[in-house]
Amino acid sequence: AAAASLNLDIIQGDILIGMTKIVERFFFFSITNATAFKSILRNDIVPLITSTTQLLSVSTQPTTALNIAFSQVGLQALGITDDIGDPLFTNGQEKDASGLGDPGTVNWVPSFLNKGIHGVFLLASDTSSNIDNELNSLLSSLGTSIEEIYTLDGAARPGTEQGHEHFGFLDGISQPAVNGFTTTPHPGQEVVEPGVILLGESNDPNITVRPSWAIDGSFLAFRQLEQKVPEFNQFLVDNPIQEGNLTAEQGSALLGARMFGRWQSGAPVDLSPLFDDPELAADPNRNNNFNYTHAGFDFTSDQTHCPFSAHIRKTAPRADLSPINVKNHIIRSSIPYGPEVTPEEASSNTTTVERGLAFVAYQSALANGFHFLQQTWANNPKFINNKNISAPGFDPIIGANKGQPRNTAGLDPTDANKNTTFLIDFVVSRGGEYFFSPSISALAGTLSA
Ligand code: HEM
Repeated sequence: AAAASLNLDIIQGDILIGMTKIVERFFFFSITNATAFKSILRNDIVPLITSTTQLLSVSTQPTTALNIAFSQVGLQALGITDDIGDPLFTNGQEKDASGLGDPGTVNWVPSFLNKGIHGVFLLASDTSSNIDNELNSLLSSLGTSIEEIYTLDGAARPGTEQGHEHFGFLDGISQPAVNGFTTTPHPGQEVVEPGVILLGESNDPNITVRPSWAIDGSFLAFRQLEQKVPEFNQFLVDNPIQEGNLTAEQGSALLGARMFGRWQSGAPVDLSPLFDDPELAADPNRNNNFNYTHAGFDFTSDQTHCPFSAHIRKTAPRADLSPINVKNHIIRSSIPYGPEVTPEEASSNTTTVERGLAFVAYQSALANGFHFLQQTWANNPKFINNKNISAPGFDPIIGANKGQPRNTAGLDPTDANKNTTFLIDFVVSRGGEYFFSPSISALAGTLSA
């Protein structure tokens, strides 16, 4: 489609394409001297901020990619009084904790409480020593103009697990194609207008209220999501799906795949319902080319291919919604954090060391993006709501019920009405913050003026 093309030189690189990420550090800070900070931002930091254009070609990718984003209190600290038109951002994520299904903020990392965070540096590279070097040089320019509040280190998992999140499933397969950016969408990839992700672009739902400097920025929802990996694995071992000739081990793998909607390899269960298919997983022309409909199957009742509540179906219902949903989309740019499961944790089926996902989602309106997917779809047992059962159930992975048990139907392909109750959350929110990732021209202009 011939959309006016975007100015990729000014859009921060993590938003549309994602920074290279064998390792990524999230450095959260507060601004202690705004005047000094602004002049360092303009003179020393802006030239280091990685644009989308730079990431498009290997030859222009920096050793360490750098992006920056600010919370509402951070913008205030910089003297910005404009309302950029997103109440969830304005109020901060702590206010949204119960809206997101967290049991209040009992599990939150204290640094995310009380609006102490003004901004975050995102540094991504192939080695942590590259990141140390880049951060040290940033910090020496910044001097006493900022203070560190909190750091979270993300890293790809080792060996063949690279690209897989801690439960073992390949991540980062399905992203929306952005009109004006993605030249050839893959088969089955959903196409969104740029304003679904970027402020001020076509189909930005709040385009009329954006101050001009906010154009081509995006809201960054950050969540530190702990994953209870040994407990999750134990659940699979205890509840293998009994179908046909599957061994117990295959039945457990099938249960895990149905909770996600994809096998660990990334192959979609909608196309490969009983066995994993690594070749399908690796083929970008096929691994997104499904929409949950199948000739000869009743669309309102068929869960033999994919449960209605599967993580990828709850967060992107494809043909379940008619007309196709074009506004509730995010671009994800997350990375795992924390070590591999230790032998002691595996044998005791109990997490003792924190690990999880440093979750990053971009959208032009939090109320349509991350917040919506979490609250209105993942946490709502009635969604998907045009089906023959009144409660398809919680998203088994991220669906949150304020710490209370969660029900899900449809996980057993032999009995769609069988309910599963999860007594614990396999994903525990440790909190986060809402940020705004401005255009590089806003960083060089209004924000550092
Ligand atoms: C897809 C894991 C949190 C939204 C996926 C996939 C995996 C995964 C393995 C399939 C790979 C892919 O299609 O790219 C996880 C884990 C999470 C988590 C382990 C928490 C620790 C979230 C949250 C949201 C979310 C909090 C939003 C509220 C999505 C979306 C997709 C997806 C939109 C793509 C669905 C599609 O287009 O088919 N996730 N996820 N995820 N996830 Fe998550």
